[in-house]
Amino acid sequence: MTIKTFGVVGAGQMGNGIAQVAAMSGLDVIMNDIKTEFIEKGIANIAKNLSRNVEKEKMSEEEKESVLSRITASVELADMKTSDFVVEAATENEVLKLKIFQNLDEICPAHVILATNTSSIPIGRIAGATKRPEMIIGMHFMNPVPVMKLVEVIKGLATSEDTFNTTWELSTKFGKTPAVANDFPGFIANRILMPMINEAIFCLYQSVGTCEDIDTVMKLGMNHPMGPLALADLIGLDTCLSIMETLYDGFKDSKYRPCPLLRKYVETGWLGRKTGRGFYQYD
Ligand code: CAA
Repeated sequence: MTIKTFGVVGAGQMGNGIAQVAAMSGLDVIMNDIKTEFIEKGIANIAKNLSRNVEKEKMSEEEKESVLSRITASVELADMKTSDFVVEAATENEVLKLKIFQNLDEICPAHVILATNTSSIPIGRIAGATKRPEMIIGMHFMNPVPVMKLVEVIKGLATSEDTFNTTWELSTKFGKTPAVANDFPGFIANRILMPMINEAIFCLYQSVGTCEDIDTVMKLGMNHPMGPLALADLIGLDTCLSIMETLYDGFKDSKYRPCPLLRKYVETGWLGRKTGRGFYQYD
């Protein structure tokens, strides 16, 4: 089926990035969140990114305006009824995501694929909350979405080939390179990335090194574009903790236990860049 209108639930750092790449690919986008201020913040971020592209002469002012004009703000989930494909990018909270999927299942016509940008919640569990398990799929974008080339496409046990092919093609249309993963905790990306970040936090916890030294080792010694602690701050420490807990619960293997220091930071509200304080301090 032809996809013209693309729905995004959540206007946060992942949601607004997904809305941006979808609108840049020519689709009409409905970006939904629970509060107008969240949407306004999301649209302001997209406008800032597009303006940077104009400054770098990668895009004209007209193109920027045309991309922005394709994005419609919504504070009612019911607005998703006109979408041809929906991706959910709400907070990484299972209860919340299951509720959103139950509601989307009632709101959206039967032919509409409902994808989730979850970083670790099982696709099968989300599919089980709906009456269309064959049309539920993981479409996992990386942060910052406009820059990162990967979309991890996750097949649940019940995901149909049609759903998979449509999602794969859409990822390509967005200028991304998809990679397929099966439905195991953390899929591929976070099963590998998060234990590395968690281990970096253990190094800090056990005073093996300072934040700066740990990040320098990984940046200069392994050619990572940023150190694991700076990356944790970019992702959000609450998200990192929630992914580690999903890995630990899912595999029941102690190698995935979250570092106590990570939990302490999250309890203190030091969530990384978004709160101005994580392993580093931000303005
Ligand atoms: N939004 C949009 N564009 C951004 C951006 C943002 N937040 N941050 C940087 N950019 C753009 C810049 O404008 C610049 O664009 P041009 O090439 O057109 O000039 C380009 O990205 C490079 O940026 P910088 O020169 O400022 O800085 P950099 O070279 O250090 O790159 C980075 C920044 C892209 C973030 C890089 O450090 C990087 O790749 N870091 C690792 C990111 C990563 O690992 N992401 C995955 C996280 S895991 C995840 O998302 C999944 C999950 O479930 C947790």
